[in-house]
Amino acid sequence: MEIPPPTLMKRMQNVHNHKTIENSIVFINSLIKKTNIDIINIGDNMIEQRIDELIKLIDKANYEYYTLDKPTITDQEYDRYMQELQTLEEKHPELKREDSPTSRVGGQVIDEFKKVTHELPMLSLGNVFNEDDIMAFDERIKKVISTPEYVAELKIDGLSVSLVYKNGKLVKAATRGDGVTGEDITHNARTIKSIPLTLTKPIDIEVRGEIYMSKASFNKLNENGENFANPRNAAAGSVRQLDSKIAASRNLDCFIYHLPDPEDYNIHTHNNALKFMKELGFVTNPNNKKINDIKELLTYIDYWTKERPNLPYEIDGIVIKVNNLDDQQKLGFTARNPKWATAYKFPAEEVLTKVKNIIFTVGRTGQVTPSADLEPVRVMGSIISRATLHNEDYVTTKDIRVGDIVSIKKAGDVIPEVVKVIEDRRDGSEKKFQMTKSCPICHEPLTRKEEEAAYYCLNDHCPAKKQEKLIHYTSRHAMNIEGFGDRIIEDFYNLGYLKSYEDFYTLYQHKEELQELEGFGLKSINNLLEEIENSKNNSLERLLFGLSIRHVGTKTANILAKNFKNIDNIIKAEFDDISDIKDIGPIIAKSVNEYFQNENNLKIIEKLKEHQVNMTYLKTINTEETEFTDKTFVLTGTLTRFTREEAKEKIEMLGGIVTTSVSKKTDVVIAGTEAGSKLKKAKALNITVWKEEEFINTLSKY
Ligand code: IVH
Repeated sequence: MEIPPPTLMKRMQNVHNHKTIENSIVFINSLIKKTNIDIINIGDNMIEQRIDELIKLIDKANYEYYTLDKPTITDQEYDRYMQELQTLEEKHPELKREDSPTSRVGGQVIDEFKKVTHELPMLSLGNVFNEDDIMAFDERIKKVISTPEYVAELKIDGLSVSLVYKNGKLVKAATRGDGVTGEDITHNARTIKSIPLTLTKPIDIEVRGEIYMSKASFNKLNENGENFANPRNAAAGSVRQLDSKIAASRNLDCFIYHLPDPEDYNIHTHNNALKFMKELGFVTNPNNKKINDIKELLTYIDYWTKERPNLPYEIDGIVIKVNNLDDQQKLGFTARNPKWATAYKFPAEEVLTKVKNIIFTVGRTGQVTPSADLEPVRVMGSIISRATLHNEDYVTTKDIRVGDIVSIKKAGDVIPEVVKVIEDRRDGSEKKFQMTKSCPICHEPLTRKEEEAAYYCLNDHCPAKKQEKLIHYTSRHAMNIEGFGDRIIEDFYNLGYLKSYEDFYTLYQHKEELQELEGFGLKSINNLLEEIENSKNNSLERLLFGLSIRHVGTKTANILAKNFKNIDNIIKAEFDDISDIKDIGPIIAKSVNEYFQNENNLKIIEKLKEHQVNMTYLKTINTEETEFTDKTFVLTGTLTRFTREEAKEKIEMLGGIVTTSVSKKTDVVIAGTEAGSKLKKAKALNITVWKEEEFINTLSKY
């Protein structure tokens, strides 16, 4: 037996089985021989064939190395294949295939990130933090599924990605974004070696997973002059590059953990979905475990809490998923998270620092919140100089004083918190906390509401409150006026252009002056004005949420809009009319009722009406029978004239229902370009299919 070269040994260090090594070497030797013969015999007419062959060899090597963790060829051989392929492609650019592994080296530069609407929303997970939370999660599941089986997995600390393949070829990679719309990062995903460009089967499929950077690559990157706080930020920063050469140089990786459409492949458990995805060439994390009772889960969590530092990549928790997919479907989703899964988050890192000062900030509801101004420290990779102190009770209970040494913690993206005061470190110079009794901005006296720990500035003219409300009005789930950052609103406010909601709709009168402001130009002002104009057509629930009515979040805003249909009905409603609605409790009802009895608020609404801001619930506006009424629609592929969200709204307005997966219950599938598996399924089930043109024609009748 020949002695393997050192690089082969290196590549094979993860292969524990001697038999496999022997077999591999025999296999490699045969490959080397075959390759040499092929190179000698190659003729011009065989170039295309040779390219195909090289791609197959390289894809196979990648699959064995990344997916199976069982390499069978040496680094030199791999490099030789790549070099040969690159040379052939350079000589014959017309023969370069889109899925060529040479695209891994990057080089594609894009002008901007295109928006991608996900076929199914990309949800995130709810969190649990301790044993009690885990028990409560298990109990909630058991109310629906008597004997659930779980799968526990590592929660990889990176950024989630959706990968779409057509006919086995990678065609789209997108970030999660807001869950509905993400950004197209295909050019960068192509450079990640653990993301297959070609699958082992020529199928249409979407999978989801996590792009991450290993600890080693992260350290190397920072040693070479970058200054990323942690591997997650480094991975996110690398993926958000227009030039794919940068992503290629960053050595990113990817684990796949979710199959959004398992029924399309006749898969019934999450575990089988993982197996299936692995067979297709994806890299799945090997450290998952089937769990039958919570005790096993706690042992798994304990094990990985200790083992975490020894992993070559960062994890920030453990994900627990119900294994059976029918059970998952029975459990369903909340607005944001699947009910069949949750994430246990590892306890946050704690560090010591000094409280330099305690300051007060005013929120949009007028709530005045104390925060600690800290000596900057690094916690979990980011520099922290501020921690929330929530309210007076929180500070007095913990007895946090200016000058104290405190321990602070930060969990994930959560705002840092003060855990406790290190009393031993006091020297007597610390100053006891005193809650401010007046607004730090407008200096009006504050009011502490009954049974609440918080103090409020009740001055409706308080500039801080007003600015915060304006910021909220433009936010994504409210009126969704893109282009207004906090700073722009602050500046426009201070310059006198923007004092109340109605001023958004007269901003166009100041167009000339605004475009003279630093950082602005005609294009950005025009964009802003167009966004403002579009916001007039929003459905009522967005306005209700945007008005900053206490206790009215997106869910309540939706319920109110759906039930009352227009704002006049809400204004007319008595307390009982509101509290009678399912899911609206007395506290919300009181707050809504009070808001709409207040003269000032009614004036604001009148002004907005004058500017033609829509005040009706648009989703069920058409009560007449239409071709959409009570029919179930599925949207697939790319529509050219609407976003997914717009098409959905239109269908719902005309009485239709939009669902995400095709089944016997689907009436019509609306297929845009590049429609894939859903269209196939619709045809198989003999379901009516409308092309975009037909959809537009039908819409135009109403
Ligand atoms: S499952 C619908 N599994 O954690 C379920 N997520 O906090 C989709 N993550 O957005 C998520 N490792 O970016 C799942 N093994 C894993 C994961 C994982 C990391 C991320 C993912 C998700 C976030 C939720």
